[in-house]
Amino acid sequence: MFFVYFVVKIDPRRANGHLWRAMSDSPAPAAVSMDAIVALAKRRGFIFQSSEIYGGFNGFFDYGPLGAELKKNIRDCWWNDMVRRRDDVVGLESSIIMHPKVWEASGHVAGFTDPLVDCKVSKQRYRADQLFFAAVVVDGQTVGYVSALESEKTAAELQAAAETFKRKKAIQGTLSPVVAKDMTEAKPEEIALIPSPATGEPGSLTPPRAFNMMFETHVGPMRDSSAIAYLRPETAQGMFADFKNVWDTGRVKLPFGIAQIGKSFRNEITPRNFIFRSREFEQMEMEYFIHEDADWAKCHEEWISWCEAWLKSIGLPASHLSRYTHPKEKLAFYSRGTVDIMFAYPFGVQELWGIAARGNYDLTQHANASGKPQEIFDEGTKKKFVPHVIEPAVGVDRILLAVLCAGYAEEDVKDEKGNVEKRTVLRFSPRIAPVKVAVLPLLKNKPELVAVAQKLHEKLKRKYAVFYDEAGAIGRRYRRQDEIGTPWCVTIDFETIEKPGQTFTLRERDSMTQKRINEADLFQLLEEQVY
Ligand code: GAP
Repeated sequence: MFFVYFVVKIDPRRANGHLWRAMSDSPAPAAVSMDAIVALAKRRGFIFQSSEIYGGFNGFFDYGPLGAELKKNIRDCWWNDMVRRRDDVVGLESSIIMHPKVWEASGHVAGFTDPLVDCKVSKQRYRADQLFFAAVVVDGQTVGYVSALESEKTAAELQAAAETFKRKKAIQGTLSPVVAKDMTEAKPEEIALIPSPATGEPGSLTPPRAFNMMFETHVGPMRDSSAIAYLRPETAQGMFADFKNVWDTGRVKLPFGIAQIGKSFRNEITPRNFIFRSREFEQMEMEYFIHEDADWAKCHEEWISWCEAWLKSIGLPASHLSRYTHPKEKLAFYSRGTVDIMFAYPFGVQELWGIAARGNYDLTQHANASGKPQEIFDEGTKKKFVPHVIEPAVGVDRILLAVLCAGYAEEDVKDEKGNVEKRTVLRFSPRIAPVKVAVLPLLKNKPELVAVAQKLHEKLKRKYAVFYDEAGAIGRRYRRQDEIGTPWCVTIDFETIEKPGQTFTLRERDSMTQKRINEADLFQLLEEQVY
């Protein structure tokens, strides 16, 4: 085998000749409420609650016609840029249910846990690190405790609760500012004194205990413990378990990556924030294998930059992106460094994409557990070694929520008669917009217009997701397309059929400007913008 010892330069803005056109230079989008996003997602068929007719199922969601398109476009952009347009990354599709020993070796059976706190009275369950408490301290003495669930307002809620507590108990003296802690920090003697958020009374919360988030199932006809298997909680282990298969068959050389898109399942204690934290979700992960002597920090930084550039290429504004570097003391012992790309969601700045330098931990674990060495031979030094890995791991659903939040705007605009009206618009990048172009004959009762429009529609839909709409006033039709994020509308009007050189009105979503365009230029525009 031939080796390149040091990592190749990864141009963060280039995908095989395409210089990603980041939309990040556009002004930061206005603040948007989650209620508006959830309402639009339902109203226009992007996202529904799973099993809604039975009252919904917490932590599970369905993607409607537009949501399915949007999600597919996000996946396709990632796959094209990450796999097809790169020479150093190959794809994989591993099974969702793998041998249970995979999850023992990876450490998930023993350690894929969240700290769980029960309220014995209300039967509510909380993630301990999302349940906050504070001592109520008056004149330096602790006189009681208050609690609140994690939110943007946790500190303010705890302060207000402490003031209420002091007033209700008629305690005189000076209240100290509260110091918020989460339940993982509670001392044993404090737990009985902290009120449950469900009942407001102390005495019912249990100490935190480890709750394994893997979904269990049974494989085969037996229901005993020997038949237990797990729905995968991440796609990554498929890449590690198949590393040798890909190495032996894939004509790959270091450094190289194995990428996968697929469903993952986690029995989250508190699924929340719409699709941000759900129990069934989709991941796009890539394991980038490097030589043990490679400059891992440089490679790590290059992948972080690549991920940031990619997010901008699908329309996320730089103003909403930031980095969080995990403190060294909180990293797993094998981890060399983890940086999360954060996104400013309406409910706070939260993790979107984690990029971890994992050393050779995973391959070593699988080698030890399976007895199958995962080393490769270094022709240069004539030594065997286990490759190290850089892992960019992101959730499709989190990206989809981010593009919905960043793209959403409500604006005052003037209609044809000059009256001010509201328009709701989703400023999706053309790369991911569920509908690329809408074809609109000006009048549905003019067969000459309809015939041209239908012909254009037929041609366009061979290559692109196109919407044909002839119902209603043209202004109303534009608004409908704005609301689902269609970048362009093409109107077939009288000029189209009366003037030579057949042109259409091209109406642009964001600027709402109109110009004339012919068919060849329309295809050219789409070719350049939808890639
Ligand atoms: N293999 C590493 C790994 O799975 P992770 O940080 O647990 O790392 C990677 O997950 C990404 O998957 C996260 O950054 C997030 O985008 C997404 N993700 C994780 N848990 C999720 C959940 N419950 N719902 C939606 N997306 C989730």
